[in-house]
Amino acid sequence: MNGSDTANAMKSETQVIVRPARNIRGTVELPGDKSISHRYGMLAGIAEGPSRLRNYSTGADCASTLACMRALGVSWKRNGAGEIEVEGRGPVLAAPSTALDCGNSGSTMRMLSGIVAGQPFTSEMVGDASLSRRPMERVIKPLSAMGARIESQQGKPPLRITGGALQAIDYKMPVASAQAKSCLLFAGLYADGETRVEEPLRTRDHTEVALRAFGGHVDRKNIGSGSEVRIRGGGQRLRGIEARIPGDLSSAAFFLCAAGLFPGSELTLPNLLMNPTRARLLDILMQMGLRISVTQLEEIHGELVGSLQVEGAPLKGTKLAGGDSAALIDEIPVLAAIAPFSQQGIEVRDAKELRVKESDRIQAVAANLRRMGAVVEEFEDGMRIPGGQTLHGAELDSFSDHRIAMAFAVAALRADGESLIRGAEAAAISYPAFFDALEILAER
Ligand code: S3P
Repeated sequence: MNGSDTANAMKSETQVIVRPARNIRGTVELPGDKSISHRYGMLAGIAEGPSRLRNYSTGADCASTLACMRALGVSWKRNGAGEIEVEGRGPVLAAPSTALDCGNSGSTMRMLSGIVAGQPFTSEMVGDASLSRRPMERVIKPLSAMGARIESQQGKPPLRITGGALQAIDYKMPVASAQAKSCLLFAGLYADGETRVEEPLRTRDHTEVALRAFGGHVDRKNIGSGSEVRIRGGGQRLRGIEARIPGDLSSAAFFLCAAGLFPGSELTLPNLLMNPTRARLLDILMQMGLRISVTQLEEIHGELVGSLQVEGAPLKGTKLAGGDSAALIDEIPVLAAIAPFSQQGIEVRDAKELRVKESDRIQAVAANLRRMGAVVEEFEDGMRIPGGQTLHGAELDSFSDHRIAMAFAVAALRADGESLIRGAEAAAISYPAFFDALEILAER
């Protein structure tokens, strides 16, 4: 058992009972986006001067990022009400005296590995049981090609990274992963020359946007359904920023899908992230019949933010594949969880990556849906869930995965009878206040 496993074992399991609802109604403001919080937390640390980050994610994953930055010599403090003040240290960090504990956070381990690969010292990165099973070759291979020395457990954590002088790389990524892309862009900052990263399918571009917000130079352009990003190494100077982090769209997905369960729903989500590389869920839900309008659109540090008004309607079915599956990778569990209640059901293909997330999300979704009495067909790269099904309440499992816990709290709202979610504490990884917010919105 490593440090964070011990901490997890000490945390008692929480069970939450979810009763059926008849509507979703109200307003909820989401904590800061998890993807942006990680990136701002890291970039603020290697920038020069102070940063003030308001509405920083309340999730445990983003706290793992801040704890690692502190272990690398970056000072920061919480100013209350979700504001973090970071004292930028500049690009060269301090050698950590303990292992960098990334907890459950793949984003922390993969993205930060790009920064520590540029440091003149050795860092050890560890994670909890789930993270210790996740593939890291996607960062090990290109970082090694850039000159970092990395030891791992056959491509899995813990990682021992000895950084130093890096050479720029021209790299075509074999998997669509924003975390791996970000890792290479961060490493590219420390490399000699220009690093070019090509991704097969477009993934979230928060790193590119955030680097510019902190004063860095990056060029990106679309290539077919993918993109190419170039970053110049050798001493780009980043400077601290003041920012309000937009509300997390992937957390909002649970409420949007809950609204999709009841034609009479009315939901308002102010200050929500609207970045086009993240907003595919809104298109899909609108195609399925949900009525969504956006007001008060503005851009903050290059990120689109808006206020969403949502009205429920009977949901049609959909098929997700290719670029859609990559763009919706974090939202597929909740879309699949509501699929039985749609008219034609949902089919998901090209989503093999779901098998190597915090849990095997294809297997977890199928298992929970079956416990509720649903028919599900499972494929190696997805699933098919027929629509028009009636589900009963059941004992469900989070599989220690935040998105599975929240997805099935949503499905349980439309089941006949109440459901019990075991391991519900997993929701705190990205959204600790989730169950309270859902209770406020659910009309019974
Ligand atoms: C993330 C990228 C995605 C996503 C994760 C957050 C990011 O992971 O699933 O929740 O912030 O870059 P992959 O890079 O593994 O696709």
